[in-house]
Amino acid sequence: MNIYLAPMEGITGHIVRNAFLHHFGQIDKYFTPFIPAAKRLSRKILRDIDPANNEGIRLVPQLISNQSDEILDMIRQLKDRGFSEFNINLGCPSGTVVSKKRGSGMLLYPEELDRFLDGIYNGADVPVSVKTRIGFYAVNEWPTLLAIYRRYPMSEFIIHPRVRAEMYTGFPHLEAFQAAYEVFAEDGAAASGDDASAASVDAAADPVTLCYNGDIWDTACYANVMKHFPKLDTIMIGRGLLARPDLACCIKGVPVPDTREKIRAFCDEIYDGYLSIFSGEKDVFMHMKEIWANLGKSFEDSDRLVKKLMKSQSPSEYRYLMDQIFDTLELSPR
Ligand SMILES: Cc1cc2nc3c(=O)[nH]c(=O)nc-3n(C[C@H](O)[C@H](O)[C@H](O)COP(=O)(O)O)c2cc1C
Repeated sequence: MNIYLAPMEGITGHIVRNAFLHHFGQIDKYFTPFIPAAKRLSRKILRDIDPANNEGIRLVPQLISNQSDEILDMIRQLKDRGFSEFNINLGCPSGTVVSKKRGSGMLLYPEELDRFLDGIYNGADVPVSVKTRIGFYAVNEWPTLLAIYRRYPMSEFIIHPRVRAEMYTGFPHLEAFQAAYEVFAEDGAAASGDDASAASVDAAADPVTLCYNGDIWDTACYANVMKHFPKLDTIMIGRGLLARPDLACCIKGVPVPDTREKIRAFCDEIYDGYLSIFSGEKDVFMHMKEIWANLGKSFEDSDRLVKKLMKSQSPSEYRYLMDQIFDTLELSPR
């Protein structure tokens, strides 16, 4: 099983990626949080993708735009920096992103989406994958979108089977993922589609790797996904890996001795890393609280202590509460 760490804006930067690599490993690919293709690469993004900050990490830059020429231009810039594989964000549900017709905002405009993909896949000479939701308002948008996607030689097709309107509520629509599974995994390769436009490339040339993403919190969730999609060989996990940083190891059956100490060291590395990149302690706390919002799930009955930790105002108070969590709570089932 290939396991990818999902891109999470504000969380899965190089500090967190390195902490995963150093303490747990077993993550086959890491994706950057989305990089706006229209803008110049900021100092923050350049630091995040700097090879010196990503040693041993197979890093895929994720790009966001609604213009294929912007994507192609950014691919060229990043190729010059040594990257050879890219991902396109067609799933971001944030209001400021969708209002600009980007991320899942593009899903409302199938014809534009088609032209966008056509431009990218006719112009790119490197593997380009797509990460998408299954619609904007409702699941019945998915067949139209899927018919478009299947025309293109995506290197990988990563599906978070929720519509934008759901944000992260409810449950992933496994039946929608099933429709893609029937096309890409069960047949073994992408079909080019009868209605492919003249400009479309031959999608049947190389098989498309199908990747499932959504609500894999523990090995039971993973087993459920595999029960439905036994031929799946690639999954992407976001919040589940933050909640249980050893989850990729558990899924791959790689024992993690001293899990509790490993998680503590993982937290400490992130804390120290944040101290080195943020100017004030306030920023460090804010970002650590984002980590703990999920990491609390690593422990049984952690709500009370995690709530207190989320309110901590000083390093000593934070450390005291973290010690309480590590020293007194049981690890939750993996
Ligand atoms: C705080 C946060 C930030 C995210 N940022 C991105 C992003 O930059 N690009 C992206 O494609 N998805 C982003 N996502 C979505 C995740 O990659 C993933 O699709 C989603 O969390 C569902 O997977 P999970 O249930 O394994 O967490 C973000 C999600 C969260 C919660």
